[in-house]
Order: sequence, then structure tokens, then C-alpha cells
Amino acid sequence: MAGRIEGKVALVSGGASGLGEAIVRRFAQEGAIIYSGDVNAQQGGPVAAEAGATFLSLDVAREDHWQAAVARIENEHGRLDILVNNAGILGTGPLEHIDVAAWDRLFSINVTGVMLGCKHGSLLMQRNPGGAIGSIINMSSNAAILATAADCGYSATKGAVKLMTQSIAVNFARRGLAIRCNSIHPGPIDTPIFAPWRPDAEKAERLEGQLLEMIPMGRLGRPEEIANMALYLASDESSFSTGAQFVVDGGGTSAVPGM
Ligand SMILES: NC(=O)c1ccc[n+]([C@@H]2O[C@H](COP(=O)([O-])OP(=O)(O)OC[C@H]3O[C@@H](n4cnc5c(N)ncnc54)[C@H](O)[C@@H]3O)[C@@H](O)[C@H]2O)c1
Repeated sequence: MAGRIEGKVALVSGGASGLGEAIVRRFAQEGAIIYSGDVNAQQGGPVAAEAGATFLSLDVAREDHWQAAVARIENEHGRLDILVNNAGILGTGPLEHIDVAAWDRLFSINVTGVMLGCKHGSLLMQRNPGGAIGSIINMSSNAAILATAADCGYSATKGAVKLMTQSIAVNFARRGLAIRCNSIHPGPIDTPIFAPWRPDAEKAERLEGQLLEMIPMGRLGRPEEIANMALYLASDESSFSTGAQFVVDGGGTSAVPGM
């Protein structure tokens, strides 16, 4: 079935790589008009061009960037139907080694970035011709459900995204706005987010072993499997879902490890 989001206008943050790239490509197959925002223009430009999307230079931590992105979309299409707040980075490591500048940067991207996207994206959705309507999809993590002991910062940011999503969803629903807001909670997915571990082959193998142990299905997820969930939430098929958590993790959060 093609055309599940035909003609809808979508903005995807972090669209240059990994899950965001897969979402841009999947949305393009289903007929959306797509803007892909990222700090990495070198990679994001060609990915967007190949998918027939428009690349925007967007640092999600900067409100002026969101304002410019949304203004451009409003100028060119007069509406926004789908926003995927996907850009995010890994955390700062164990508690005793946390550097405050790195912690602040993590929160500015993973939490403030999502809030700013919701704020400016939903303001345009409220101006959509015909009335307020739209779907906001925030990329959280299974780390918002089960804590990762080695990275309290990442868990904290993804937990914040989960509850921010719920709060925004309830606020819109109670005001009678047809703007839905849901979070996706992927388990470990094979993307470049793990690239910093790869040069140390021994460490990478150990970490991959730990990740696989968490997953009853016995494999890492594929970016397309998250893109398919984003597509469902972007489409009208999910019209009664808001404020909800959509876990895509090969059974990881259902299992007691090893039992
Ligand atoms: N890969 C996984 O296993 C996994 C699991 C759970 C959740 N997630 C979440 O999914 C999202 C995407 O992760 P990924 O695995 O595709 O990572 P990735 O590193 O492949 O892609 C992240 C993208 O975000 C962009 N980005 C980083 N900082 C930005 C900023 N300030 N403004 C705009 N763009 C910025 C990067 O340039 C990159 O293109 C993240 O929020 C991540 O926390 C990933």
C-alpha cells in the first residue's frame, strides 16, 4: 500500500543518518513532502536529494533555527502535518565522570531540542488551513523504560521525552486540538550512533554482546523497522493514539535478562 501519507508535509530532525535517514526515505515512498533538518549538511544534503526531500540546516538546540525552518515550510506549503523529533546523541557516561558542559549539551539536544520542535512545529500545525491538525512523533528510547546503568544522562533525557510527550498530548487533546503527540521507544538499532565504540574492536564486541543479551529476538533492530512505526504514527491509521509509548525493541523491555 503506497500513499499512506500522500501530500502531507513532514519535518524530520536528524534526517542525515540512522533512524532519521530511514524515516525520510520511508516517508518519501509514501508520498509525503519532506523537510530533513540536521547539523550535518554534508551527509544530510545528499540523503535528502536522493529521497526527493528538502534539506534544512537545523541545530535542534537553537530556537532561531526552528523558527527559520518552520517559517520556510509555512512560506512554501502553508502547513505542517507531521513532525518527527528524532535528532539525539548518546550520553555522558557514568555519574562520577560527568562533565557539566557535556551534560548541558546532551540536555540541550535531547530534551530542549524536542521541546523547541514541539513548540514551533505545533504552532504551525495550529495555523493549518482548515484547523489545527497534525502528528508529532518524539524519538525516545527503551532507555526511558529500563535504565542503562552506564549512562544516567541518556536515560534521564529519554525519560524526559516520554513524559514531555504525554503532557503535550493531553494538553492538546483537552483543548480540542487534533494534534497528536506520541513517543517511539526503540531498542538497540544498528545505526552510526554506535560509531564512537567501533574503533575499539574489543569494546565494541563486548557492548554488542551486552545489547544482544537484552533482546529476546537475538538481533539488533533495523532502521526501517523504526521508520515503519513512525509511518504508522504519522498516518491517519493511528488517529486514536496520543500520549502513548510505542516500543520497538525485539521484546527487550518484556524480558528479565537470561530468564
Ligand atoms: N540507534 C539506536 O539504537 C537508538 C535506540 C533508541 C533511541 N535512539 C534515538 O534515535 C534517534 C536517532 O538516533 P540514530 O541511532 O539514528 O543516531 P545517528 O547518530 O545515526 O543519527 C542522529 C542524527 O542526529 C543529528 N544530530 C545530532 N545533533 C543534532 C542537532 N543538535 N541538531 C540536529 N541534528 C542533530 C546527527 O547529525 C545525525 O544525523 C536519537 O534520538 C537516539 O537517541 C536510537
